Amino acid sequence: MNYAAVRTASRAARGIITHDEDAFAGMRAAGRLAAECLDMLVPHVVPGVTTEHLDDLAREFVLDNGAAPACLFYRGYPKTVCTSVNRVVCHGIPEAKPLREGDIVNIDVTVIVDGWHGDTSRMYPVGEIKRAAARLIDVTYESMMAGIAAIAPGKTIGDIGAVIQEIAEGARYSVVHDFCGHGIGKVFHAPPNVVHLGPPGTGAPIEAGMFFTVEPMINLGRPDVKVLSDGWTAVTRDRALSAQFEHTVGVTEDGVEIFTTSPAGLHCPPYG
Ligand code: MF3
Ligand code: CO
Ligand code: CO
Repeated sequence: MNYAAVRTASRAARGIITHDEDAFAGMRAAGRLAAECLDMLVPHVVPGVTTEHLDDLAREFVLDNGAAPACLFYRGYPKTVCTSVNRVVCHGIPEAKPLREGDIVNIDVTVIVDGWHGDTSRMYPVGEIKRAAARLIDVTYESMMAGIAAIAPGKTIGDIGAVIQEIAEGARYSVVHDFCGHGIGKVFHAPPNVVHLGPPGTGAPIEAGMFFTVEPMINLGRPDVKVLSDGWTAVTRDRALSAQFEHTVGVTEDGVEIFTTSPAGLHCPPYG
């Protein structure tokens, strides 16, 4: 066997599938709608709004566009989006409590279009935020985009994590280990696990046609998280801020295609 054949065998043995051009077209449509949903929410994330209201807006937007909200009823999850505020790392459940000036919130949406899943999240500042919060958001976005830029056939999943880890730890932040990105496509959560840590050269080999998410969670303090008694909400144990961005991507012959780029150019804050 040559190296390309070894990589294919290793990838397939891990249960990772590759996709054809029709599948890329399906993912483009799903990814675009998910990104448009996050664009739509931008002007609504203001002091006094409840995350439950943001969830209502997202659900109506997805349904009005003929798509399905993937999270609603997924493993018992009760809402369309996850809204993770301040120390919430991920999977915060929208609630009736108003957002306050200075909060930072991640909104994560997954839509299903023609059976294909588009999964993306961004950080939203609520009014004026502190410089430390803005810097955490900037570095988290930078780490995700640098991780994505490291994707190409012949690389490994560990190469993505290594880049993310280097940027986050270089800024004196920590990378959450308990949650990771995932394969995606017709299935919401599939192999491989996309761990947001190195070392380089480890993990599944990357091949053209793979679809997965890159969704680093970066903490201002320690990496340790715990899940609250609702069974979903993951928070930092030290109560320090956490930030996250997420894109869904496809591996091409010579690199990577991002399916969830903001059509409105609202990639990361400040949005106004
Ligand atoms: N969208 C999340 C992810 O990035 C998954 C949320 S699962 C839910 O994979 F059930 F909490 F919505
Ligand atoms: Co995801
Ligand atoms: Co997501």
